[in-house]
Amino acid sequence: MNTQELTRQYLAQTYARYPVTFIRGQGSQLWDEAGKPYIDLGSGIAVNTLGLADESWAAAVSAQLTALAHTSNYYYTQPQAQLAQMLCERAGMRRVFFSNSGAEANECMLKAARKWAADRFGEGARPGIVTLKNSFHGRTMMTLAATGQEEMHRDFGPFPQGFRYAEANDLEEMKAKADSGCCAVLLELVQGEGGVVALDKAYVRAVEALCRERDLLLLIDEVQTGNGRTGTLYAFEQYGIEPDIFSTAKGLAGGLPLGATLFGPRTADVMDPGSHGSTFGGNPACCAGALHVLSRLDAACLAQVREKGRYLRERLNAAPGVLDISGMGLMVGIAAKRPAKEIANECLERGVVVLTAKSKVRLLPALNIPMDLLARGLDVLVEALRG
Ligand SMILES: Cc1ncc(COP(=O)(O)O)c(C=O)c1O
Repeated sequence: MNTQELTRQYLAQTYARYPVTFIRGQGSQLWDEAGKPYIDLGSGIAVNTLGLADESWAAAVSAQLTALAHTSNYYYTQPQAQLAQMLCERAGMRRVFFSNSGAEANECMLKAARKWAADRFGEGARPGIVTLKNSFHGRTMMTLAATGQEEMHRDFGPFPQGFRYAEANDLEEMKAKADSGCCAVLLELVQGEGGVVALDKAYVRAVEALCRERDLLLLIDEVQTGNGRTGTLYAFEQYGIEPDIFSTAKGLAGGLPLGATLFGPRTADVMDPGSHGSTFGGNPACCAGALHVLSRLDAACLAQVREKGRYLRERLNAAPGVLDISGMGLMVGIAAKRPAKEIANECLERGVVVLTAKSKVRLLPALNIPMDLLARGLDVLVEALRG
């Protein structure tokens, strides 16, 4: 049997996969089994921050793999400590908890919010957490409960209790839902899986003010928006807010599984020994990858992300068949006249990998994608958009 037949026979059928088997990647290019090249405008859903097989990233990870790949969190390791310091200093936070994925980073954030409230107001006094409709926070039971999309809750109940869902950008609904039974509000600043929809800045700032006024925690999910994706290291910087806790994952380690939950001054000491844990979380090899990624996300790189984002929008805005462009930086949603799946399939046939989110085409290229590849990828996409 070939790879696709084996996958169909032996893997749980949780994914509707495109009919392609990639065997190799270099930078923003991929090759399939037949040797056909593709331009990658998806970067493994915002994971391959520096593209594939980046030489110095691979060297940093390999050096750590051969020195010390894993020890568990019973002991101290250098990459974990150094990464925690770098993340806290660059993001203006106090402490980090490391896990393996976005869902786990959010799980920790939600548990910490509950514990913060239990320590402060008494066990069970303020368990409520307001999230937004159309949000996506992960696939564990807790993060699925936090996800404000009813269709994703089907078949899996009962869920952890206490979540309330408010319409994005509706401050009055937020005021009504975030009442004295709540401990926190959780926002995804650009709803990625929900169709790459950026929240209004004035709304987000007003929600922050509401949290301060009502003694609620402001939780920000930067799993997809984080690590340079929107043109600043974290998207909350562009919103001018200070989260009490934020989560990130995806692109943090540039292709290895790593989640991080970062705590600000109000929450830095909430989690104490025994309150949470993860066997693999903060694995030295993943942390070495993340240290390298973060060291490359300097001011010049972030300026390039913003510049490429502007170029991309200019070209797409002028393209026939485009109805609307959304998102920030190199996180782009395209509403088109043609169905998004049709466009993605046509691009793939013509050697360009694009993603979809709800009814939109979604682009999440590597942050260091060379301009000529980006331009060539867009040539194909623009034709597919026209139909
Ligand atoms: C905003 C957001 N939160 C959480 C997650 C879940 O991350 P993971 O798939 O790594 O568990 C995702 C994944 O798409 C996401 O986009």
